[in-house]
Amino acid sequence: MAMSVLGATMAGAEPPKGEPFGKTSRGEPVELYTLKNKGGLTAKIMTRGATLTELNVPDKNGDVADVVLGWDDVAGYESADNQYFGCTTGRVANRIAKGKFTVLNKEYQVPVNNAPNALHGGVERSLDKVVWKAEPFETHRGQGVKFTYTSPDGEEGYPGKLTMEVSYQLTGDNELRIEYIATSDRPTPVNLTNHSYFNLQGAGSPTVLDHEVTIHADKYTPTDDTLIPTGKIDPVEGTPLDFRSAHKIGERIEQLDKTAAIGYDHNFVLNGASGTLRKIARVKDPKSGRVLTVQTTEPGVQFYTGNFLKGQKAKGSKTYAHRSALCLETQHFPDSVNHPEFPTTILKAGDKYTHICVYGFSAE
Ligand code: GAL
Repeated sequence: MAMSVLGATMAGAEPPKGEPFGKTSRGEPVELYTLKNKGGLTAKIMTRGATLTELNVPDKNGDVADVVLGWDDVAGYESADNQYFGCTTGRVANRIAKGKFTVLNKEYQVPVNNAPNALHGGVERSLDKVVWKAEPFETHRGQGVKFTYTSPDGEEGYPGKLTMEVSYQLTGDNELRIEYIATSDRPTPVNLTNHSYFNLQGAGSPTVLDHEVTIHADKYTPTDDTLIPTGKIDPVEGTPLDFRSAHKIGERIEQLDKTAAIGYDHNFVLNGASGTLRKIARVKDPKSGRVLTVQTTEPGVQFYTGNFLKGQKAKGSKTYAHRSALCLETQHFPDSVNHPEFPTTILKAGDKYTHICVYGFSAE
């Protein structure tokens, strides 16, 4: 029996076992772990990219559907059509202007993979593409898997050897709890997130425009037309970004059609103290009755409505149309490393990066 990392393994309870899930094109074996709870939820997470590949959730009638986008195999995840479905994203999630930043008076250039900017940690060895080591566990909260990966100094152009842990746990309260820890031997920017795309009617359903969204944010960070923050922090009031009370995604999205984001793709400055786990968002699909709540310790959330989905055929031969899924990526603000006025993303040697994100599910 594998040892628990978060406490004693429960008597009689078996931590989940990994199953083979094929190989990467580099020949690395990939494993898939299945977590289950008493509420009928099942989560599947693979070692490539510490990626959530499936999340099966009952609706108001007890009918179960997989509510996250993904692929059937590793080749799908490696394909050009994969837009970071379900992965652990980093070392620096979201954009860095022109891929340039300075740490301790030294300038760094990381790969520009979303011209003219750097996006989601790089090209070949970003965190979504590497194979993590898995260690299953079980505590009073439920079944989990802890993934670890150490990124060597200079990987994808980033300074410092970065040691990371991402643990996923499926709790008895129908929550998928994701906890991140990182340490570095040199100061380096770190901004990790999970990049799950949700459709609460089931992945592959045609749209999320009917989903009702609440986000507890009075402010957001406006961007230029390459989606880099201008540095301003503006009120959401009077804009289509005011989700302080519930609105259907489709209600005002057309007002954003002609912007660079072609829809919602914005960083919201979350209310409440960062570092404290607090409820920051709620999404309801009126048809199935499924409700997603999001809690985090992070200062921001990137709310993205799948505007760049392009009808790719993925898991179970389902098609992922434009705006057929949404992401709520808990994180620090985009391009923070070039904005001293934003909460810092620099992890100093000897300090510990921590981040908790809890996706909770119910039906009504
Ligand atoms: C999101 C980002 C979008 C897009 C997407 C991946 O996190 O906000 O602009 O890049 O990832 O396709």
